[in-house]
Amino acid sequence: MIEAVRQIQERLEGQSYITDRAIATTVYLAMALKKPVLIEGQAGVGKTEIAKVLAAALDTNLIRLQCYEGLDANTALYEWNYPKQMLRIKIDENNRTTADEEEHLIFSEPFLLKRPLLQAVTNPDKAAVLLIDEVDRADEEFEAFLLEVLSDFQVTVPELGTIEAKHRPYVVLTSNRTRELSDALRRRCLYLWIDYPSFEKELRIIRTKVPNANERLASQISAFMQAIRHIKLAKVPGVAESIDWTMSLMALHAEHLDETTVRETLGAIFKDRDDVARMGGKPLDIVLGSMDGLEGDELKAWTETIGQRLERELSAR
Ligand SMILES: Nc1ncnc2c1ncn2[C@@H]1O[C@H](COP(=O)(O)OP(=O)(O)OP(=O)(O)O)[C@@H](O)[C@H]1O
Ligand SMILES: [Mg+2]
Repeated sequence: MIEAVRQIQERLEGQSYITDRAIATTVYLAMALKKPVLIEGQAGVGKTEIAKVLAAALDTNLIRLQCYEGLDANTALYEWNYPKQMLRIKIDENNRTTADEEEHLIFSEPFLLKRPLLQAVTNPDKAAVLLIDEVDRADEEFEAFLLEVLSDFQVTVPELGTIEAKHRPYVVLTSNRTRELSDALRRRCLYLWIDYPSFEKELRIIRTKVPNANERLASQISAFMQAIRHIKLAKVPGVAESIDWTMSLMALHAEHLDETTVRETLGAIFKDRDDVARMGGKPLDIVLGSMDGLEGDELKAWTETIGQRLERELSAR
């Protein structure tokens, strides 16, 4: 691994983000080539978090544009502060300003409300991190507009002229793949797919995020999460659920996984009624029964075979 990539990995891990080589390399390249990164992956695997920790690691502003259906260019770029303009006009009613002067005044920078894209372009002193979160939720027209902004990092406000970025922001786009993004957008970005973590990675994440959880509990939780991701569920739990569950178990003073506690806390892992019902029966017995008494490397080895075992035993019903 080249030194610069290793440094990125170290900086992200310094912000409690467990980073593998693929992530560190993509982040490094995005910074070196000044290209946006498009991150895709299932829910809760740590996509959004990358932008947050990158901003913290670079000690710069995080500017977030949360995408949703119907999001339009105005909301993303800038708006005029209409109430402030009206107030100004009222105050100036008795002054001898001409209509032209008044217009010039109320369409100047102090009356401009900068929305995320303009904020990112005009961030003072150094490059900000611009997070365009869940871009798949925005409409295709908005995506086309984004392409324009991302290609030249300048924004034209008709009344003010063109504002160019002094410091090009680092751009992170995330998508949960609820719809396909255009080829044009993909081509402009570096691509990073984040999968569910391996047993080791998830264990490191849990130990980092919930440092007072004991090793045994943390490794049982990671192993359990690996196992249940083999089961067909409406909402497969991500890392966020592993962390939540660990914290719930800590709050209940659990030292290890036992059946009663697991059953009582299923709501921290599964966020869907059918999933709780599906998981609460035989799958839970198989998982807990077969992992009982295993520790360390045995648990890791167990995660490698539990998928097949579940498939075999559940289909034999
Ligand atoms: N590699 C990691 N290191 C440390 N914490 C992580 C890691 N991956 C995920 N997390 C934690 O998991 C939680 C979920 O992460 P995040 O919100 O980034 O997921 P996401 O992929 O954006 O999910 P969604 O698609 O639901 O928006 C956060 O609390 C984050 O801190
Ligand atoms: Mg997210």
